[in-house]
Amino acid sequence: MNQAPLRILGIETSCDETAAAIYATEGGVASNVLFSQIDLHKRFGGVVPEIASRSHLEKIQGIINDAFDQAHVTLDDIDVIAVTTKPGLPGSLLVGVCFAKALAWAKEKQIIGVNHLEAHIFSSCIENKVPFPHLCIAASGGHTSLYLVRDFGVYECIGQTRDDAAGEAFDKVAKMLNLPYPGGPVIEQLATDLSFEDFFSYPRPKHLTLDLSFSGLKTAVLYDLVARNAYDLQAKKLLDESQELKAQVASSLLVCVRDMLTTVIERALKTYPEIAAVTFVGGVACNKYLRQSLQETAAKHQKPFFAPAPKYCGDNGAMIAFVGHYKAQRQEFSDLFLDILH
Ligand code: KG4
Ligand code: ZN
Repeated sequence: MNQAPLRILGIETSCDETAAAIYATEGGVASNVLFSQIDLHKRFGGVVPEIASRSHLEKIQGIINDAFDQAHVTLDDIDVIAVTTKPGLPGSLLVGVCFAKALAWAKEKQIIGVNHLEAHIFSSCIENKVPFPHLCIAASGGHTSLYLVRDFGVYECIGQTRDDAAGEAFDKVAKMLNLPYPGGPVIEQLATDLSFEDFFSYPRPKHLTLDLSFSGLKTAVLYDLVARNAYDLQAKKLLDESQELKAQVASSLLVCVRDMLTTVIERALKTYPEIAAVTFVGGVACNKYLRQSLQETAAKHQKPFFAPAPKYCGDNGAMIAFVGHYKAQRQEFSDLFLDILH
């Protein structure tokens, strides 16, 4: 292991955020800069890949320059460039990877390809000393999985959604209710206003594995709305635009997702008694109610709980630089043949 202090540039362009950050052995995160494309995709109700990659191309240089400026360093001060290679939108990933390779080639820097999901998994460790092995619940718009995390870079997936991701359930129900994209934050706000009451008791899955499923929940919400004469299935149109109904659906949905997550955590803790802590990461981990609920579940089982600061929950460059840092310490470098992999 190379224990010399290192300074890493992390680049993330896998989806709809152009992000760059500097992470150093001494001092941790020195800068974390991001351009969110949400406003570009909003009117389409989801991410449009072609728009995403064009926007990355426009923004990447400025974002990386800002990351250097805010950390008061230049490219010459960087030891390693870490960049997301998978999974993600190919056209978006390519922008970051090509940019990183060009910088690495021009300045003869080491380069490290980072798996985006690994970066989310270890985002709880950026600011916390999380004991191993721990259980990580990673929930975003594209993925929802449970991992048994044994060490930095050493983890196995022990459960995952069979269909939609948790964030996708929020986004799709929000779309059904004519609420803005992304759905998670607005659903949280509406549910908070109603003190997280469970109005409609959507069915909870009955299987006993460590897998999850959110597609059934989305369908349950839809058919419940139809049964209330609030949705026209044929016309795909919401008939009841009242704020009251939207908030009641939001509140019931969030409570149902909470139950699904806490149930699977309890099951994982029983299956793997060696688990020393629980972490909650990904965009959905921004949700204060879910953070609180998962913390309570962990505490019930005498396990410490960690979730990253919200700025490290959604896609960001710091988590990429952080993984790049421990990989660089182990000399796990990539080369200029680095490609996007699926
Ligand atoms: O990790 P992320 O930024 O991007 C992906 O890699 O998908 O996650 C975005 C997802 C979206 O589905 C969004 O609705 C959800 O995270 N999200 C939330 C909240 N903030 C974002 N879900 C629930 N509550 C929130 N406060
Ligand atoms: Zn992500």
